[in-house]
Amino acid sequence: MSIESQEDLAGLRAVGKIVAATLQYMLKSVRPGISTGSLDVLGRRFFERSGARSAPELTYGFPGATCISLNHEAAHGIPGPRIIREGDLVNIDVSLELNGYFADTGASMCVEPVKKDLSDLCSASREILMAALRSLRAGRRLSNVGGTIERESKQRGYKVIRNLSGHGVGRALHEEPFNLLNYKDPSDRRIAKVGQVLAIETFVSTGADYVYEGRDGWTLKTPDRSFVAQFEHTVIVTGDFPVLITA
Ligand code: CO
Ligand code: CO
Repeated sequence: MSIESQEDLAGLRAVGKIVAATLQYMLKSVRPGISTGSLDVLGRRFFERSGARSAPELTYGFPGATCISLNHEAAHGIPGPRIIREGDLVNIDVSLELNGYFADTGASMCVEPVKKDLSDLCSASREILMAALRSLRAGRRLSNVGGTIERESKQRGYKVIRNLSGHGVGRALHEEPFNLLNYKDPSDRRIAKVGQVLAIETFVSTGADYVYEGRDGWTLKTPDRSFVAQFEHTVIVTGDFPVLITA
């Protein structure tokens, strides 16, 4: 969507605030021994108090309130009986709907005792998201974002997942513009516009450059068991640094 009124801005900010708070609450609740299903229930109880609804459940019938992906899973992990263990890499992706507005955020973290290579991967992916947001500006190509993610990842010795991407968001979980890739596509001539609402996400990997769908029909995993750290914010494009809706 594009922000066209104060009502749009207020509606988006309201859902963005709950999305951000839910993610922080869930990240703080991660500890060895908790199942991904229990973590998901904590998240659901938290956001349902505000009247928000799970966007993936509402939109796609996803079997969970949030997506929780571990280690070599990159996205769309189904919450369930799986136990989070010491040293695991955990990704939580929260997207919600409130009063017809949608926001989407995600983050990866390491469980104590933290493995240095995985915490380096997480820090890099978080920093790369900020670099990507600095390259997102009205009047410039949307593909600058992918170019930045690809360049910054390569500089740090990482790969990017080429078949996962950011997207437009706001009136739906996924909407135009689709396919905001993690690499530069020179044929993508789309220009960022003031007021455009986008979910920018990094998929930085220790080896793989694509993911495949697991047998559950949802979970996206690396084929070589390499690790992926994802960070995501919903933002509004401006002539300067974008407005972060999910910070
Ligand atoms: Co997301
Ligand atoms: Co997203």
